[in-house]
Amino acid sequence: MHRLLRQLLVKVTHKPVPHRRAGTTGVTPDKLAAYWENIFHEHKILEPEDSSRILVAHALGAKTFSSIGSIAARSPVSADQLALVEKMAQERLKRVPVQYIIGEWDFLDMTLEMRPPVLIPRPETEELVGLVVADCEELRHSTKSTILEVGCGSGAVSLALLRRIPQVRVIAIDKSEAAARLTRDNAERLGLRHRIHVLQHDIVTDPVERLQDLGPVSALVSNPPYIFTEDMTQLEPEILRYEDHSALDGGLDGMDVMKGILRLAPVLLKARGDVFLEGDPRHPEMVKKWLEENPEGRLHLLHVVKDFCGKPRFIHLRSHS
Ligand SMILES: C[S@@+](CC[C@H](N)C(=O)[O-])C[C@H]1O[C@@H](n2cnc3c(N)ncnc32)[C@H](O)[C@@H]1O
Repeated sequence: MHRLLRQLLVKVTHKPVPHRRAGTTGVTPDKLAAYWENIFHEHKILEPEDSSRILVAHALGAKTFSSIGSIAARSPVSADQLALVEKMAQERLKRVPVQYIIGEWDFLDMTLEMRPPVLIPRPETEELVGLVVADCEELRHSTKSTILEVGCGSGAVSLALLRRIPQVRVIAIDKSEAAARLTRDNAERLGLRHRIHVLQHDIVTDPVERLQDLGPVSALVSNPPYIFTEDMTQLEPEILRYEDHSALDGGLDGMDVMKGILRLAPVLLKARGDVFLEGDPRHPEMVKKWLEENPEGRLHLLHVVKDFCGKPRFIHLRSHS
């Protein structure tokens, strides 16, 4: 008998082995999810219920546990499905994020491929997209605009913008080759490859002329690495072990890349162009101070927008005309 099935029957059902048809396991998705939830809980794995339900749903070819369907939810899983869940659960026990285990994740209305160590998009970043769509001045007046995203990662922000704003094309840059490749692959997957130019480029060290050659842009958007270096050790093992540290660590004040963007903005933006940044709640005040100390950039702070937790998270700047 399969090792997991034996454990399941002992740990979860506490019942004798039920009569089974050949090729089935006698274990329903509910029991399988409950079993792994318990194990994850015992091993102090984050979000044990969500983790187990996502893995079981994935093994059954469903997106969410609730979408498995009532008949499938009451039917035994196959031996292959049982083995697949076990394999994925063992990964989860090593603290691999579920997004990397199942190889995809939803961001707004898109399902994106996920590959370690490219950053898994966070829910608050969905709000950054909404902000650009609602508040980008140029987009209201222009029939053809270009948005530059700095640090595109999986392509989540750029691709969501392309889906929402038909007249826009995007230049998406990232210093990580893995991120640039994943953005291209996700663009392909969503049929958006013809509207996005993806470039492996480090805005701190690579020559700005490379970007200037692509023409002035209406808006600059970025969720840069913004964690203060001293806070990096506080991160969960899922993040510290598996996600790219250079996607997270923003330096001593969390602003290494952000300052690069602020310096770049006057060179690349059209007059009255916008900058949208996601940052740490301490950053709005720090950006304000930086702008006072660097007035030659001709940028002014328009709004600070709170995230769904009420934290000042997004910074909207505009260049003077
Ligand atoms: C917080 S992640 C954001 C990823 C994606 N935009 C998202 O919101 O899910 C920051 C990204 O910036 C990239 N990055 C870090 N430093 C950079 C630099 N100097 N130039 C360009 N990209 C950089 C990282 O590789 C990473 O993909």
